Amino acid sequence: MQTPFFLGPRLYFRPLEREDAPRLATFVNNPDVRRNLLTHRPMNAGQEVAFVDAMAASQRDIIFAIALRDGDRMIGTTGLHELDFRSRRAIFGLLIGEPSEWNKGYATEATRMVVDYAFGTLNLNRVRLEVLENNLGAIRAYEKVGFRREGLLRQDHYVDGAYVNTLVMGILRSEWQPLTATK
Ligand SMILES: CC(C)(COP(=O)(O)OP(=O)(O)OC[C@H]1O[C@@H](n2cnc3c(N)ncnc32)[C@H](O)[C@@H]1OP(=O)(O)O)[C@@H](O)C(=O)NCCC(=O)NCCS
Repeated sequence: MQTPFFLGPRLYFRPLEREDAPRLATFVNNPDVRRNLLTHRPMNAGQEVAFVDAMAASQRDIIFAIALRDGDRMIGTTGLHELDFRSRRAIFGLLIGEPSEWNKGYATEATRMVVDYAFGTLNLNRVRLEVLENNLGAIRAYEKVGFRREGLLRQDHYVDGAYVNTLVMGILRSEWQPLTATK
């Protein structure tokens, strides 16, 4: 493991490095991935370097590379955004960028780890996310971790020729089950 920051059972989080930029570009340009990320412009490695630098400099964002402990390979990114230490809340984001690694429980594990970090380390009170209503795998993963459906933004995004609703989900500190309690 290189520069491990937070350990899960099968995954670990580490800082994103500039050297990760080409791999990030591979992730976010993949049509199957970007469909749910709502990106509509091609992203080159230089833009990804700028993204890594911007995230590192930002006081309102914390982003991690998600890597497999077995084989030490980065498979995605996750993080907290719009951090607000007055209202003690943030917005969660996640991508598993290698479709061959989908449906192995990695999103569920990574989400659980970020929630643990948000409440157990940052002392936040609430984490919120937005997900397309037809992204059933993501919704399933988030619900398994304890996120609840809080609202629906109707016809919020235009994807592949049709409008799609956005589901707003949230988890409160009082609903959090610490990782140590589930081991
Ligand atoms: C969506 C995404 C995060 C899911 O990651 P993942 O690692 O495959 O998720 P997990 O394996 O942890 O959990 C997915 C769950 O949904 C289920 N699932 C998958 N596809 C499903 C579908 N079409 N309908 C219902 N459930 C589905 C899986 O069976 C699994 O549940 P289970 O463990 O109870 O069997 C991943 O595909 C991804 O990053 N996609 C691109 C970017 C993205 O969508 N990011 C999220 C934006 S909010």
